[in-house]
Amino acid sequence: MKEPKNNFFCQICGYKSSKWLGRCPSCGDWNTFAEEISTPLISQRALKESAPPVPLNLVSVSESERLPIGMREFDRVLGGGIVAGSATLIGGEPGIGKSTLLLQMAERLARTDKPILYISGEESAKQIKLRGERIGAKSPNILILTASDTETIILHIQKIKPAVVIIDSIQTIYSPEISSAPGSVSQVREASERLITVAKTSDIPIFLVGHVTKDGSLAGPKVLEHMVDTVLYFEGDHNNLYRIVRSMKNRFGPTNEIGVFEMRGEGLAEITNPSDIFLAQRALGVPGSVVVPSMEGSRPILLELQALVSHSNFGIPKRTTIGFDPNRVSLLVAVIDKILRVPLGTHDIFINVAGGIRIEETAADLGIVAAMLSSLNDREISPRTAVFGEVGLAGEVRGVAQAELRVREAARMGFNRCIVPKTKENIAAEVEIIKVGNIGELLAVVFR
Ligand code: TYD
Ligand code: MG
Repeated sequence: MKEPKNNFFCQICGYKSSKWLGRCPSCGDWNTFAEEISTPLISQRALKESAPPVPLNLVSVSESERLPIGMREFDRVLGGGIVAGSATLIGGEPGIGKSTLLLQMAERLARTDKPILYISGEESAKQIKLRGERIGAKSPNILILTASDTETIILHIQKIKPAVVIIDSIQTIYSPEISSAPGSVSQVREASERLITVAKTSDIPIFLVGHVTKDGSLAGPKVLEHMVDTVLYFEGDHNNLYRIVRSMKNRFGPTNEIGVFEMRGEGLAEITNPSDIFLAQRALGVPGSVVVPSMEGSRPILLELQALVSHSNFGIPKRTTIGFDPNRVSLLVAVIDKILRVPLGTHDIFINVAGGIRIEETAADLGIVAAMLSSLNDREISPRTAVFGEVGLAGEVRGVAQAELRVREAARMGFNRCIVPKTKENIAAEVEIIKVGNIGELLAVVFR
């Protein structure tokens, strides 16, 4: 028999190399490679378990059946409930609320008299019970199994046939056929593959918890992203009570959909009107602040953008952004500089999206420009004005998707004026609408 050849894997993204590397060529992280023993077992098993091809028209559609959880925010990110036989990865930093959310889900689902199997490799049944007491989960249908090897877990899944399986966390699970340590890339990959296969063949939905660690001591959930149907990530930080669960990938629903929660003493509470909370602590009438209606999945949410532009005391100006792409900010600074002839090269610029949320959309461009101009000129923008639009390199303001939905959300939240891109689209809403074609026109109207 041929000696199995060992490879080195990046513990963050799973990149494979035949020799040790200091820096991963795929994800760019430093010092993340570890040696792992390769096994040829996977392909043999895959052959054994594979089913013959089926004509497309004969495929049964039972896999699109959905099981609603009954937590509206969670159902929304999943695309309307849990799909039978689907695999969902829930990633996030330790302590952000993954176990809490899943235990709350288990409690909701257990009300339908079906067993829910909660497998924990990192906490004892007692610890889970204590958490359960805080959030009011005490159903006899929630079955706790503290195990970490795939063989035991699969045995129990097949015997109990639960409505849903929860694995908390995948980094503590190991497959005895592989000799590398739990939490390494080979283990995480192999164990997940085995568990997902069992879930798929028996039509049981499975949730995998994946910790994200910055130092790369555990294989990141990135390794699993292509193996599962749905990838959800927790956003938000520990200083902030709001938790955002965002769908990064979803084979059964829209991506970039978010669910908003608040961590309370009795678990995660759903926030059904997010615009409310993100604007709640806004300081009214201060320069540098502007509200942007941002599409988060299918729903518009009003977010506050803040800019601080001040004269730099040092040679090299500081540029810091939180919650928005810094490259995009540099681009917008250059556009203001060139088109409006406002020299920003000697200014420190800080940009912040309030509430710990991230904006991925270019529709926030016009808001960033407005906030920077407001701070620079020390002039406030009316607190009842909302701004959105994409800004191009020539300073032109471009149209964005779902303009009407955004304006309506602003109207609903009591705003009386919206500054929007100049397009032919007719927006029906009960607010004053000002269309601007470039950032010069924005400057002319924004401080009114
Ligand atoms: P947890 O779900 O254990 O995080 P994860 O599984 O992602 O590591 O959440 C842990 C944090 O949440 C912990 O700091 C305590 C806090 N928490 C509450 O504030 N209220 C609650 O009801 C619960 C259960 C946890
Ligand atoms: Mg946990």
